[in-house]
Amino acid sequence: MAIEVPRAVRWHDGAVRIIDQTLLPGEYGEIDLVQVEDVVEAIRSLRVRGAPAIGIAAALGLVASLRPDLRLPPAEFRARLLEYAQRIRETRPTAANLAWALSRLLAIAEAKASASNEELWDALYREATAIHEEDREMCRRIGEHGLKLLHDGATVLTHCNTGALATGGIGTALAPIYLAAERGWHVRVLATETRPLLQGSRLTAWELQRAGLDVTVLTDSAAAAAMDRLGVDLVMVGADRVVANGDVANKIGTYGLAIAARHHGIPFLVAAPSSSFDFSLASGEEISIEERGADELRAGFGCQTAPDDVPVYSAAFDVTPAHLVDAIITEKGIFKPHEISRLRR
Ligand code: MRU
Repeated sequence: MAIEVPRAVRWHDGAVRIIDQTLLPGEYGEIDLVQVEDVVEAIRSLRVRGAPAIGIAAALGLVASLRPDLRLPPAEFRARLLEYAQRIRETRPTAANLAWALSRLLAIAEAKASASNEELWDALYREATAIHEEDREMCRRIGEHGLKLLHDGATVLTHCNTGALATGGIGTALAPIYLAAERGWHVRVLATETRPLLQGSRLTAWELQRAGLDVTVLTDSAAAAAMDRLGVDLVMVGADRVVANGDVANKIGTYGLAIAARHHGIPFLVAAPSSSFDFSLASGEEISIEERGADELRAGFGCQTAPDDVPVYSAAFDVTPAHLVDAIITEKGIFKPHEISRLRR
């Protein structure tokens, strides 16, 4: 069966066209990001989200934002480039892909120190497009490697959204599942709701159902019971940042799933492209964890769910220690967490 996936982000007529993921699943809408303010707002409010998609939106967004500045004197144009890159970089701290993608564009600017504004802009556009294309390819390769760990009839529990909506291609942790479906295998997906912003129930369920796959939504707190009672073969999640010792930052709740999977003897697998790896950090303790606004917990989706002024712990991500991760699936193959330094080369 041929799989058709949504395109979370793409270049369209001088702007970055994204699916506004805050509307899903009730409504489908696309918006164009033209100015740096649009890009910053869209990333911060999770209209575009998921580590690889954030990196792509940041790169294309920087290029789009610079278009009106082409007539500035070269020194001012380059100053704008640095200013916009900094503003976009500050939107979300945990996903490695954001700073990684922007650094690639800044490296182009450094290498083309004497280029005209137009030449530099063209080179930045080509680099941003390459980041997008490479991500599409990495997703497919992750899918091919991950497929070796699946079988027809498997039940996979996943968290958050790691599919087409989170990437430039068919996803990371969902990529092997899409490829299994392409081969005609039946894979049952258990998608945790993913409190508080519901990326699992709103986005994973939407994109898998749309592709004709078998998906069941469960509350985050039902995950351990599902492992006990529903015959889960694998837990497969994505990553926002994988650091040198193999610790993995991912959506809040991932750590608890890893503990529950270990208790039940179920393999816990992480799928991530090399753009999500950060070898500059020795361990997960050094990862900056994004804290979201308290109202996402107290009044999510416009509905009051806690007293107005009650203090909340609103970390958007947690860190799963390497010893709870059975394998990391990358575009370059499948690694044990202690083996990932091989990727550095
Ligand atoms: O806050 P989000 O929705 O951007 O968080 C996304 C995740 O945690 C994903 O699991 C991660 O980025 C991997 S996506 C391929």
